[in-house]
Amino acid sequence: MKNEKTFKPCDLVIYGALGDLSKRKLLISLYSLENANFIETDTRIIGVDRHDLKDSEFVELAYKSLQEFLNDDIDDAVWARFSARLSYLKIDLTQMDQYRQLNAVIDQKHRIMVNYFAVAPFLFKSICQGLAKSGVLTENSRMVMEKPIGHDLKSSKEINDVVASVFNEKQVYRIDHYLGKETVLNLLALRFANSIFTTNWNHNTIDHIQITAAEEVGIEGRFDYFDKTGQLRDMLQNHLLQILTFIAMEPPVNLEADSIHNEKIKVLKALRPITLANVEEKTVRGQYSAGYIKGSAVPGYLEEDGANTDSATESFVALRVDIDNWRWAGVPFYLRTGKRLTAKRTEIVVYFKQLPHNIFKDSFRELPPNKLIIHLQPNEGVEIEMLNKIPGIDEHIKLKKTKLDLSFSDTFKKSRIFGGYEKLVLEAMRGNPTLFLSREEIEQAWTWIDSIQNAWHYYQDAPKPYPAGTWGPVASVALLARDGRAWEE
Ligand code: BG6
Repeated sequence: MKNEKTFKPCDLVIYGALGDLSKRKLLISLYSLENANFIETDTRIIGVDRHDLKDSEFVELAYKSLQEFLNDDIDDAVWARFSARLSYLKIDLTQMDQYRQLNAVIDQKHRIMVNYFAVAPFLFKSICQGLAKSGVLTENSRMVMEKPIGHDLKSSKEINDVVASVFNEKQVYRIDHYLGKETVLNLLALRFANSIFTTNWNHNTIDHIQITAAEEVGIEGRFDYFDKTGQLRDMLQNHLLQILTFIAMEPPVNLEADSIHNEKIKVLKALRPITLANVEEKTVRGQYSAGYIKGSAVPGYLEEDGANTDSATESFVALRVDIDNWRWAGVPFYLRTGKRLTAKRTEIVVYFKQLPHNIFKDSFRELPPNKLIIHLQPNEGVEIEMLNKIPGIDEHIKLKKTKLDLSFSDTFKKSRIFGGYEKLVLEAMRGNPTLFLSREEIEQAWTWIDSIQNAWHYYQDAPKPYPAGTWGPVASVALLARDGRAWEE
């Protein structure tokens, strides 16, 4: 594949180049983009960290990261091109004077400076101040950051304020890696390029919508981080709410960043608050106990390495969400996400309304509703569940549930499905802000989440246990059963 259009080359500076995010995700994504010829010829990648390393040692370390985390063989020719872009700078991020070194390296005349903050947020302030003091930034410079952007509204405002003291909003690229996933982007195409979904996408035809992001993994050695965070903040505040906004928003006037951000914010503003008054009927918190994943025994949350054994942090959350606007009045959205569930599965299921009258009682006492199932991962694709007549010359017409199945890998055999990071790192280098989050979106999402968190805190109810390898606590089944509905299993 050849990249036809050219963009201005970048000086991509990775702060925290020796850290986990850089090694596991960024360098791997950048190499994959190199492999697909998507990186501009003159773009350079500058690793910044506090350890003393020669350029050659950084290159070696990048190679080792690829060996460990790339799900493919390293191609010698691609590696030669890629490694030639890499260099390293030792900067102690807390020492303002050390940022001056960047002036000798960054070439503002020919390249755009893209500053990737791959470090914990407590360092953001020093980086911003150091960059400001060095005088290296121009109005074209960009900064990229990703979650956690705070753990509540107040702390997220603090981070955004620090960043805003040096970068204006148009220069800031906030990543939610779900927005780089092919299937999340396809939601725009599905909804706004197909007339069958434009006229049927509201309370007249849709009964309810389910969004599931189930993970098999536990907390993967991150007990410290996760225990202070919990699944509501780790997955729902960002990834699931983002999917929800794509599903629920009004048609944007075009694909420009502002148009899309505006529509998403309207959805976030219309989310009915979950408060002390309704938190018990609208939310379920769970925590996994020991169980089995694919036949292997796994420990419970409280037995994980480094666990605080009386932790009440949730590893599972299910919510009933109502959107108070014209389109979605009376259509509940059920969201659930959890660690150590039966399978890795992220999907959206749109349940259409049942027909008012059934003339096929021989087949179904009640006609099952049509369903649109959007598989975000794995096995990306779209299915529509509908009823068809079973061929034959029987006296009675017999119906069967059948699926119209569009699997991405079968349908687009020649297209490679890029990962979320690859897409987003590329878009940040290209300067296309559409797939990134605006400050207002993040703060609106936190406002809504804080209300749930406060209500939980008030009641102090312990999370409901569920054995690892199941679909979460029984209470999550009851959440839908109360409304006469069931989770798609
Ligand atoms: C991250 C969370 O943002 O997303 C992790 O911090 C989670 O806890 C991960 O496991 C899931 O991402 P994906 O792309 O594997 O669904």
